[in-house]
Amino acid sequence: MDFETQTLAAGLKAARFRADRPAFFSWLGVTIYLSKDAVAGTLRYIAARPAGSQVVFDFAPPADALGGQERASRERMASRVARVGEPWINYYDPGALASEMRSSGYSSAQALGSEQMKRALFQRPQG
Ligand SMILES: C[S@@+](CC[C@H](N)C(=O)[O-])C[C@H]1O[C@@H](n2cnc3c(N)ncnc32)[C@H](O)[C@@H]1O
Repeated sequence: MDFETQTLAAGLKAARFRADRPAFFSWLGVTIYLSKDAVAGTLRYIAARPAGSQVVFDFAPPADALGGQERASRERMASRVARVGEPWINYYDPGALASEMRSSGYSSAQALGSEQMKRALFQRPQG
């Protein structure tokens, strides 16, 4: 489905999704390509799912939140994807996004940085 022209509700209904059951939504690598309205609408739909539902998604912070090296590497990557017709257009401040999510009805929203993700996902217990 196209998040800009369709709602997630309609897309999932067509796929016979059971909207009356809790669900886990994995939405990786997409928000950077979408308008803020498309992202907000999708997040509102997910927030309205039955208790126990969750979403994991990623987003990029604005360039002025990045250090020099990260910013340069972001700019190189952004030019490359723009050249192939998939421009990055959407950036979020993590704190502002978390508070927007809480106002949309999420009971909790947690933003993990790359170091926290590495620790949570890849660090094996010693011993
Ligand atoms: C970097 S890929 C991520 C793919 C996959 N989710 C993953 O984690 O490997 C970006 C995806 O965003 C999708 N995308 C970009 N704009 C979209 C839109 N308006 N509606 C739906 N999908 C879109 C592209 O089709 C592409 O599959």
